Amino acid sequence: MSLMQQIRDYRVPQRAVAVWWLGQNGFIFKTPEGTTVSTDLYLTDSCAHLVEGFDSKRQVPVFIEPEELTLDVFTCTHNHQDHTDPETIRRLAHKDTMAFVGPPPSCGIYRAEGVSDDRIHMSWPDCELGFRDVEIRGTFALPTDATDLNHMGFVFSFGNGPRVYITGDTDYTELLVSAAKHKPDVMITCINGGFNNMSHWEAADIAGKIQPRLAIPCHYDMFADNAVDPRQFRASLLLRAPNVAYCRLNHAEPFLIEA
Ligand SMILES: [Fe+2]
Repeated sequence: MSLMQQIRDYRVPQRAVAVWWLGQNGFIFKTPEGTTVSTDLYLTDSCAHLVEGFDSKRQVPVFIEPEELTLDVFTCTHNHQDHTDPETIRRLAHKDTMAFVGPPPSCGIYRAEGVSDDRIHMSWPDCELGFRDVEIRGTFALPTDATDLNHMGFVFSFGNGPRVYITGDTDYTELLVSAAKHKPDVMITCINGGFNNMSHWEAADIAGKIQPRLAIPCHYDMFADNAVDPRQFRASLLLRAPNVAYCRLNHAEPFLIEA
């Protein structure tokens, strides 16, 4: 059975959310009501030849072909190609039944790749959006280079279940701690350290200040030239955030987060 079908069939208990990691910053969340929300789905190999001499061939399988994807809400944190991927969006077969959320440059890609204006919802740090039983709050993220100055993160509140903070790609800044006001139960964070993203040490420092119950590393697996061992994040958490549990997700397997 395809992963998309497994996600459609999966029954989520009350006061919980199920999450599947598809690699890099790509996640699909599902609520007990059946609402599905994604972040930063990179479902092609379009970055393979982006930068001369840089090994950015995808190392993680494509678990869901874009044509197969059916979701309620498709979100992007910023307009780098491993997050807002024009080819993924172009090949979506169900653009007319999804809501598309992202900062203005991502909205420009949605529009250019055939999403109609009435399905596009612009987001920014501190915005508040709602879809069925999911509330979305925008959070601050610090750009990592001048090619995109509109990075952001999200805190998702899943019904009466948990709140999940996803940092998106961000350089280290104390302003990330402002996400603490949403009292997230879980923090999903970049840890790779390359190209001005937070390192595992910096991510652990922010986790220590926000104090989620659980921290999940991401953005270390997709490209050989932008990889790091997540055990380093585990070690950094022990030193910088000893009350925050470390949890490494396996790709394409359901993981249940309870409130
Ligand atoms: Fe990235």
